[in-house]
Amino acid sequence: MVIIKPDAVQRGLIGEVTQRLERRGLKIVGMRLEQISREIASRHYAEHEGKPFYDGLVDYITSSPSVLMVLEGPDAIAITRATMGATKPAEATPGTIRADLGLMIGRNLVHGSDSSESAKREVDLFFGDDIVEYDRAIDAWVLE
Ligand code: RTP
Ligand code: MG
Repeated sequence: MVIIKPDAVQRGLIGEVTQRLERRGLKIVGMRLEQISREIASRHYAEHEGKPFYDGLVDYITSSPSVLMVLEGPDAIAITRATMGATKPAEATPGTIRADLGLMIGRNLVHGSDSSESAKREVDLFFGDDIVEYDRAIDAWVLE
C-alpha cells in the first residue's frame, strides 16, 4: 500500500511518483484520490501515537487530498521502499523519490507499507475488498 501524500499531490507529482513505481513493473490493483479523515489517519499511524511528531503527522496527512494505491508484484514491499528511499530525504539515496524530490522528513512525499502485516492492515483500512484483479499483457516480459 502506497500513499502519495498531500505535498506530492499539491506539487503536481502524482504522475512522477506513480511512474517511478509503475515503471519498475509493479502492477496497480487499487487507486483512489481522497482527503484522508483524521479518524482513518489516526488508525493508519496508530504505531506513532504519543511520539513528538504525531500531531504534525496527522495534520499533514489530512491537510489535502492524497492518492491511495495498492501495488502488486514479487517483493512489492521491498521494491517500493527502495524506490521511495529513506524516511529522511537528507539520508535518502540519490535516485529515490524522497532524495530526488524532497528536503524534509515531514514533507517526504510518499508512504509505503513496511511489512506484509502492515500492508494487509492498511489495504483493509483503505480499500477493503475493492481491489481490481486483472491480467496484464506485459507480465511475460516483467516476471520470469
Ligand atoms: P511512512 O510510514 O510514511 O512510509 O514512512 P516511514 O515508514 O519511512 O517512516 P515512519 O517511521 O513510519 O514515520 C512515518 C512518517 O512520520 C513522519 N515522521 N516525522 N519529525 C520526525 O522525526 C518524523 N519522524 C517520522 C514522516 O513523514 C514519516 O514518513
Ligand atoms: Mg512507516
